[in-house]
Amino acid sequence: MNLSRRQFMAASAAISFTGTSIARASTTNSLKAGKTSIQLAPPDYPKTELWGFNGQATGPEIRLKQGARLTRLFENGLTETSSLHWHGIRVPNEMDGVPGVTQDVVQAGGSFLYDFTVPDAGTYWYHSHQNTVEQLARGLYGTIVVEEPDAPDIDREETIVLDDWRLTQKAEIHTDFENPHDFSHAGRLGNFVTSNNNYDLNLKVRRNERLRLRLINSSNSRIFDLALVGLDGWMMALDGMPLAAPESIEQFTLAPAQRMDLFVDVTAEIGESAYLVRVDRGEPFAQATFGVKGAASDMRREPPKALPPNPVAALAPIASARKAPLLMEGGAMGVMRSARLNGAEENMRTLAQAGMYWAFNGTVGLPEEPLIEASASETIRVPITNHTVFPHAMHLHGHHFREVRPDGGTGPLRDTILLYPDETREIAFVADNPGDWVFHCHMLAHVTAGMITWIKVS
Ligand code: C2O
Ligand code: CU
Repeated sequence: MNLSRRQFMAASAAISFTGTSIARASTTNSLKAGKTSIQLAPPDYPKTELWGFNGQATGPEIRLKQGARLTRLFENGLTETSSLHWHGIRVPNEMDGVPGVTQDVVQAGGSFLYDFTVPDAGTYWYHSHQNTVEQLARGLYGTIVVEEPDAPDIDREETIVLDDWRLTQKAEIHTDFENPHDFSHAGRLGNFVTSNNNYDLNLKVRRNERLRLRLINSSNSRIFDLALVGLDGWMMALDGMPLAAPESIEQFTLAPAQRMDLFVDVTAEIGESAYLVRVDRGEPFAQATFGVKGAASDMRREPPKALPPNPVAALAPIASARKAPLLMEGGAMGVMRSARLNGAEENMRTLAQAGMYWAFNGTVGLPEEPLIEASASETIRVPITNHTVFPHAMHLHGHHFREVRPDGGTGPLRDTILLYPDETREIAFVADNPGDWVFHCHMLAHVTAGMITWIKVS
């Protein structure tokens, strides 16, 4: 396969850049949000000022054992409000980090103590849950690895965070966060794709080595179509949750906010390279390159065994579960004529003037009433219909769900599901985490422009 290593925006003229790093000192148990500059673009470009934690963009990895306590003082060193959300971790409601729903927003200069135990092993991430279009586009997130009690049989692991950035010719984050086209179309897409903030990530591997790859899509709205070359891979976990049996894969999709744990065996020859390939409009790009230096052993391992399951409650029989259908409408080229905004029915023109373009069940933005009020440990079904011409990645807070297939079978546990245009897909979950939980599109321009609802669990 002929891979172009360097994918990049248009050429730039000579640049003068005067960025200053305002990186803050790191205290062990705090995460302080602030500005920091890194060499994101190739070396002939200036550094890019990002927002990160403790002077690091991406923020520091949080790594702990399943069942351990996670305590972090979030210090808001930005000049605007913020909060932290622990994406995919089944936290108590008051730790979920959603301003106006589970806590007050954290003011500039303010702080909030997050303190909870992590019930599930797997790959998660933390990110701002305020002004997300801008704060995530500037890099305000970090990774969380929750280790299984017993380490699986692998040689080593790598976390790979996939992002795309919208950069100017001076390699600055483009500040068109209010772009109406992004809000009403596919969201904010970037022009510069990275793995771990590197446009040309190279990792050394050995032949027959088994790696665990923890993939995280942290982008605002890019759907990554990925493939493995020179690597024999198994899908081991989705959105943190282990599959009942490893699934051998070559090609797969990772929507915004989704994670995937892969085990891969290096099959490329010594002196060659293996690749995590991104397929973009039919063209392959090296999303990560694995140069093969030497061999880990002469022989391949046996195929992997499943990771141990997390303690997630089993669904009650689906047939008797209550249903709360969700209809997604709106956006450019859609059929929506009007929707409720702040209690009044408004036409598309008025909605657009308010920066709103999307509705769930006829309401734009967080509705007064929840999508459903569930009693403790009730199994709830949500058939979701995407009646728009854009894909959406729906994320439920506080719970993992399973897809209910048309034949009544159920899919793996997930916290974020991708719906392509005109698809109807149904999810079911056990509502066993009390509180008010948001359920929204993770294309961040879409949630800002209306795609959010909530469920109440008593
Ligand atoms: Cu990862 Cu409500 O978000
Ligand atoms: Cu969306």
